[in-house]
Amino acid sequence: MYRLTFILIFCGVFTLMHAKSPHGDKLTLECATCHTTDDWKKIKENGFNHNKTHFPLTGQHKAIGCKQCHSTLQFEDAKSDCNSCHTDMHQGTTGRDCARCHTTKSWIIPNTRTLHQQAGFPLKGAHATADCNRCHTSASKLRFENIRTDCFACHKDKYYATAGKPFDHKVLGFDTDCARCHTMSGMNWNSIGKGFDHSYFPLTGGHNINCNDCHKGGDFRKRLSTDCFSCHSSKKGVAIAVLPVHATKYAKFSCNECHTAKSWNNVSFKQHDAWGKIYSGKHKGKWDKCTDCHNNDAAYVANCRKCHNFSSGRLP
Ligand code: HEC
Ligand code: HEC
Ligand code: HEC
Ligand code: HEC
Ligand code: HEC
Ligand code: HEC
Ligand code: HEC
Ligand code: HEC
Ligand code: HEC
Ligand code: HEC
Ligand code: HEC
Ligand code: HEC
Repeated sequence: MYRLTFILIFCGVFTLMHAKSPHGDKLTLECATCHTTDDWKKIKENGFNHNKTHFPLTGQHKAIGCKQCHSTLQFEDAKSDCNSCHTDMHQGTTGRDCARCHTTKSWIIPNTRTLHQQAGFPLKGAHATADCNRCHTSASKLRFENIRTDCFACHKDKYYATAGKPFDHKVLGFDTDCARCHTMSGMNWNSIGKGFDHSYFPLTGGHNINCNDCHKGGDFRKRLSTDCFSCHSSKKGVAIAVLPVHATKYAKFSCNECHTAKSWNNVSFKQHDAWGKIYSGKHKGKWDKCTDCHNNDAAYVANCRKCHNFSSGRLP
């Protein structure tokens, strides 16, 4: 029994040493790392740890026979870039780096959205629901040639279709960088983006409203005045009720010399320092409301007694 085992082992080792290796001279591993004495074509289950090479076997590659990748059996021949074993279905249109978009799990791309995010053209709104072929005209042949990302390239016709309308883009001198005014995330051209440069009349505070609230009927051709009173004449009544001096002493100033679109209660009157320093000098930051000095009366005479007791001679 002992002897038989010995002979078997001996024969095994002998065969291992003397069969001609098809793997070339570069393979320095012991034959027994992968082979057993049974059959050269049978490879040990967990013999060779492929993860120690530069090309760990992942995804579907784990289930593939060694020979499918190492057809020459000279292991060092295998190249690790996907393209060296897989046909480029995209005919060179997406570059050689397949792993940028694919994994070994499957060729199906789970999320074309991330792909577009990376390409600098996020698919949102109407773009997210549009068929691939609408933009990539050869997508059905899996060709994804470089296409232009600027809106005008695809929406020229839409731009010219505004001709004759109240928002005739050419007449108004609107440029072709659509994204400046229109948002890509919308389903239509009516969603105006925040990027619209309206700095000649900032749309902040109470003016962060719809274009049509000021440009009535969506007519951008009609020139609007920037004078607050031109749009807020109805506020005059309220103003006089709150502060009667609006009807007298304030009347010679424009509303915007004191008010901003932030709020009607946000008052700043820089010219004031010409009569009496309140934004500089000793009173800077010491008062709250104009009425701290001015009684809310018709004469509007400044009254200092709210803070100063002049009879005691002490200031304040
Ligand atoms: C890293 C693993 C590995 C090592 C180490 C290894 N082999 Fe192999 N060998 C294989 C694989 C894989 C095959 C192909 C099996 C198949 O047909 O699927 C193979 C096939 C063979 C074959 C059969 C060739 C044919 O034409 O079918 C022989 C003979 C062989 N090896 C000899 C050797 C010898 C001798 C050594 C040691 C010097 C050795 N091998 C080391 C993996 C290895
Ligand atoms: C999906 C393809 C694939 C499969 C399947 C595969 N290999 Fe590899 N193998 C490679 C690639 C690619 C390399 C080269 C990695 C590198 O660049 O170093 C490699 C490297 C090797 C090396 C090291 C070669 C060297 O010189 O560094 C050995 C040994 C090896 N494979 C053996 C095997 C054995 C044994 C099996 C089966 C159990 C197997 N491979 C299955 C692709 C594969
Ligand atoms: C050394 C050759 C080799 C390399 C390198 C290689 N593969 Fe493979 N791959 C194969 C073989 C062989 C198969 C199984 C046969 C087939 O389906 O083509 C396979 C199968 C696959 C499959 C499954 C195919 C199916 O039909 O579902 C995917 C996905 C895959 N590989 C992706 C990749 C990716 C991604 C890379 C690069 C990171 C890569 N492969 C690199 C040889 C390779
Ligand atoms: C820029 C991203 C990108 C790159 C890079 C890329 N592909 Fe693709 N690939 C795709 C998209 C998108 C599809 C369509 C997948 C879908 O509909 O889920 C696809 C599909 C495939 C398919 C499946 C085709 C079928 O039968 O439906 C294969 C195979 C494939 N690609 C191979 C490759 C190979 C090989 C490379 C490298 C040479 C590569 N791809 C590079 C994006 C890419
Ligand atoms: C509204 C137009 C539009 C639609 C719809 C669209 N794409 Fe794109 N796609 C683009 C633009 C623009 C780019 C970026 C420019 C470029 O790389 O060519 C791009 C880039 C790509 C790229 C290349 C990415 C890269 O990094 O090279 C692939 C692949 C792609 N799209 C696949 C698809 C697939 C698949 C669909 C359908 C699910 C789709 N696209 C739908 C416009 C679109
Ligand atoms: C590669 C071509 C392409 C580019 C670039 C592109 N679009 Fe589109 N866009 C489309 C397609 C295709 C549709 C879907 C049209 C349809 O279904 O009729 C669409 C739809 C839209 C819609 C919905 C209304 C409509 O016309 O159907 C808006 C809004 C829109 N795009 C805005 C933009 C903006 C803003 C940009 C620039 C940031 C842009 N698009 C760039 C191809 C493109
Ligand atoms: C300077 C800002 C600006 C630019 C740039 C601009 N638009 Fe407009 N666009 C507008 C405004 C404002 C409207 C009117 C929207 C409304 O009233 O709802 C409008 C309306 C439209 C409409 C009509 C929507 C409807 O109700 O029928 C289309 C189509 C349109 N734009 C396409 C484009 C295209 C295409 C581009 C780029 C090539 C572009 N626009 C560039 C500001 C702009
Ligand atoms: C709070 C009121 C208000 C809102 C809201 C408003 N605008 Fe205006 N807009 C004005 C005023 C006032 C002017 C005139 C500025 C000037 O001539 O100095 C003007 C001028 C313009 C002009 C220049 C027209 C010309 O005569 O050359 C365009 C274009 C325009 N606005 C587009 C828009 C768009 C698009 C929106 C929405 C995003 C918008 N506006 C929202 C008040 C408004
Ligand atoms: C082209 C017309 C227009 C002009 C010019 C204009 N506004 Fe407005 N403003 C509006 C509209 C429309 C609203 C929306 C609410 C409303 O109707 O009162 C508004 C809202 C406001 C609000 C917030 C709403 C409230 O009642 O609290 C303030 C504050 C305001 N404007 C101040 C000003 C000031 C200050 C000026 C001058 C610098 C000015 N506006 C010029 C049209 C205009
Ligand atoms: C010299 C500065 C000055 C001028 C010019 C001025 N206001 Fe005032 N306004 C004030 C002060 C001060 C208040 C009281 C604000 C407070 O204490 O909160 C006020 C209050 C108001 C209020 C009431 C706010 C509330 O409490 O509801 C309205 C509306 C108003 N002003 C509108 C106008 C309009 C419209 C014009 C132009 C016709 C105008 N103002 C011109 C300084 C001014
Ligand atoms: C620290 C006290 C003080 C404060 C606070 C103050 N004023 Fe005056 N104001 C004066 C003095 C002093 C004069 C000049 C003497 C006079 O006419 O009574 C004056 C003059 C004026 C005049 C000119 C009156 C005329 O007769 O022509 C106006 C308008 C005025 N102030 C508005 C305001 C407004 C608006 C505020 C709030 C933003 C304000 N003041 C805050 C002290 C003050
Ligand atoms: C809201 C309160 C307030 C009102 C109203 C007010 N003051 Fe004052 N005033 C002060 C304070 C606080 C100081 C002290 C500043 C310091 O010493 O740092 C001051 C300082 C002064 C000083 C300088 C005293 C010194 O020590 O140099 C004079 C002068 C003065 N006030 C005059 C006036 C006059 C005139 C009026 C009416 C038109 C007036 N003040 C209304 C709060 C007020």
